[in-house]
Amino acid sequence: MLRGRKSAVGLDIGGSTIKAVEITRDKFDYIITGYGQIEVPNESARPEAIRELFNECRFKTKKVVTAVSGKSVIVRYINMVQMNQENLSNAIRFEADKYIPFDIDEVQLDCQKLIDVPNPEEGKDSEEMKVLLVAVKKSLVEDQAKLLHEIGLQPVAIDVDVFAIGNAYSLNESLSPGLDDDKIVGLVDIGANKTCINILKDGVSMFAREVYLGGNDFTNAITRRLGVDLYQAETLKKDPQDREAEVKEALNPVIEDLGNEVSLSFDFFENQYDGHVNKVYLSGGSSMIPHLEEEFEVLFEKKTRVWNPIEGLKIKSDNVDIDALNNSALQLAVGVGLAARAV
Ligand SMILES: Nc1ncnc2c1ncn2[C@@H]1O[C@H](COP(=O)(O)OP(=O)(O)OP(=O)(O)O)[C@@H](O)[C@H]1O
Ligand SMILES: [Mg+2]
Repeated sequence: MLRGRKSAVGLDIGGSTIKAVEITRDKFDYIITGYGQIEVPNESARPEAIRELFNECRFKTKKVVTAVSGKSVIVRYINMVQMNQENLSNAIRFEADKYIPFDIDEVQLDCQKLIDVPNPEEGKDSEEMKVLLVAVKKSLVEDQAKLLHEIGLQPVAIDVDVFAIGNAYSLNESLSPGLDDDKIVGLVDIGANKTCINILKDGVSMFAREVYLGGNDFTNAITRRLGVDLYQAETLKKDPQDREAEVKEALNPVIEDLGNEVSLSFDFFENQYDGHVNKVYLSGGSSMIPHLEEEFEVLFEKKTRVWNPIEGLKIKSDNVDIDALNNSALQLAVGVGLAARAV
């Protein structure tokens, strides 16, 4: 039925869990035609885990879009004089030096015009534009591509986690029109090692940052406070049973630290641009912490909701465990955003 349609797998190699989502596009429909995820205890277990995942998932395509993240990825929003994309690509090599803490020959550069910067003199044309500059250590991209080739996969693009989340959100919006007409939204994806923040204005990323706080910090706090081992702490975090009050007490300071960090990003954005973040959307495995929405809503003083990155997508039920997919839906923003890029 779906023969001839375009398919791609979004492979999100997360700090704790590797997720793979295959999306097939059939005209206006986006269909999840395969899905799987696997927990990885450490980095060295990744190649085997990815191999296992692809063996199990019976994807129809070998085309894979993956992402990088972390401290070897630099994202900057800079002002430059107006020019076309070709000139920008040339000019950026000379400009990038100022913004990137690595040797320019060690990085892969990418740049893209975002918006016109309004001319301070009223009535005059814009002379400057806002440009998104992304620099990734070449070694990181090469290692990732090599890993996928070795497994027999075909990497078609390598993106960055924060932007994949933005892409998943935009897809979600386009599939559920009228869902929300807020102009500026803050996307916050709380994973295991890190939290990604991406502020979109009319669908364009205007601010992106990673904060190195996440689910592992929640688990560690439970370990310390309750005197349990990591395994028990992870279990209690997901289901506190009769220790709810203690778990909550352990988590509160970390939630507050993380919330304050995210708030700082919203403040920074709002001070720099004449705009207000209207609504915050949470995703990532750690957004499943009970009552996080409410607590963040108070901290941010903004309407805050968990959103479901697979809402609006169809599911091909004969190759997808629908219960497993729905249970982990919040973890799939990056995977969905990646796959959607290539279909
Ligand atoms: N029900 C739950 N309640 C609380 N936390 C949960 C729950 N389920 C999963 N988590 C946590 O979510 C995290 C995994 O989420 P996710 O898959 O989004 O992270 P990741 O992509 O592997 O990590 P990162 O983005 O930091 O690289 C883990 O820390 C896990 O403990
Ligand atoms: Mg992640």
